[in-house]
Amino acid sequence: METTVGIVGGGPAGLLLARLLHARGVACVVLESRDRGYVERRQRAGILEQGTVDVLRACGAGERMDREGLVHDGIELRFDGRAYRVDLPTLTGGRRVTVYAQTEVVRDLISLQLAEGPPLLFDATVTAVEGADTARPVVHYRRDGVDARLDCDYVVGCDGFHGVTRTVPPPAARRVVERGYPYSWFGILADVPPSSDELVYAHSPRGFALASMRSPHVSRLYFQVPNGTDPADWSDTEIWAELASRFETVGDWRLRTGPITARSVLPMRSSVTEPMRHGRLFLAGDAAHIVPPTGAKGLNLAVADVVELARAFGRLHDDGSPDLLDAYSATRLRAVWRAEHFSHFMTSTLHLAPDQDPFATRLQLAQLHRIADSRHAAAELAENYAGFAPPDPL
Ligand code: FAD
Ligand code: DHB
Repeated sequence: METTVGIVGGGPAGLLLARLLHARGVACVVLESRDRGYVERRQRAGILEQGTVDVLRACGAGERMDREGLVHDGIELRFDGRAYRVDLPTLTGGRRVTVYAQTEVVRDLISLQLAEGPPLLFDATVTAVEGADTARPVVHYRRDGVDARLDCDYVVGCDGFHGVTRTVPPPAARRVVERGYPYSWFGILADVPPSSDELVYAHSPRGFALASMRSPHVSRLYFQVPNGTDPADWSDTEIWAELASRFETVGDWRLRTGPITARSVLPMRSSVTEPMRHGRLFLAGDAAHIVPPTGAKGLNLAVADVVELARAFGRLHDDGSPDLLDAYSATRLRAVWRAEHFSHFMTSTLHLAPDQDPFATRLQLAQLHRIADSRHAAAELAENYAGFAPPDPL
């Protein structure tokens, strides 16, 4: 098989890139190692920035999102007995976020792609990318026990943090800049209406907690736990009690509880692979960078990467100019490091390290009070949270 752009990975980055390239008349093929059901059910992100919503709409994948997504104008920060609402549109000139699960984004993109193209192969595990620094790279993959190859002009690695493409550039040609964290997120899904209309990020003496949602009937909650925590060690009663104590604040707010339908523990890491290009291989999304989830940037960054790549391949296709492709890595790394900074800021301001001293805690609270007391500080958070406008996708 052969194509212009071989896309490794059919997560949100790979699927959206395929859709955008198809719209520009650039041929591509997506190879995804898992089956359709697995990809559609993998619980991940929930918050779409305004720019992400705009891109999905512009490429025809916004119909169900517009019907079922929940538009949010603010988030609440809870700390030191205080609740402060960050009003996003007021502080950002009208930008908002939308709660629409990654599972649903992926489902919408897959059904469009299976109906309209380009080719999307499930159960196709990429084993190697050969000749990334030649004019005709080859993607080797295995499907139904048979080895096959995809000959390409370009390859885009959208295969996430545990994929194969980020390790294709030889060690001398890449640098990984990263940081681990001494805590993880315990995440649950529960069949109970959300306790607030908007998301609540809580700094508490027992550690961080986040109340999010998937729909008016389903809550998504997270709380910080030590690395290595086994989710099976917690009973449902213990989980709800822990969450309730972390969200405790002034007023009569109560955490609604209900049946827990899914639970998992997620370690967190910041990591960037530089540059995001090696010859004719380009890295996008989690294959190039990951952020700790506080701040909800990962999916949105992946979307912004592939918007830029689609523009760059479109330019090459339309007038033969490789200028945007050549600039891709530098262009995206500027935005990636902004998001890395914000995600690290949110994480380190809201979580308690295991050995954290009272001085560090007072600094966190001072920063949170500053956000609540200063329009400038709140605007800085709001702008980063609601996101910066990506370029026109089509
Ligand atoms: P992935 O989603 O990881 O997709 C990669 C794909 O490549 C997968 O389908 C995988 O099966 C496939 N693959 C891997 N190896 C191979 C191979 N060898 N051959 C072929 N295919 C392969 N981000 C936000 O923006 N907002 C949020 O609210 C948010 N919350 C999050 C909450 C949690 C609990 C987690 C874990 C993440 C969250 N994120 C959030 C991050 C977000 O989910 C990721 O950044 C996003 O999934 C990245 O998309 P991607 O397509 O780059 O990678
Ligand atoms: C969700 C995840 C996040 O990382 C975040 O900051 C907000 C919401 C979520 O899964 O709903």
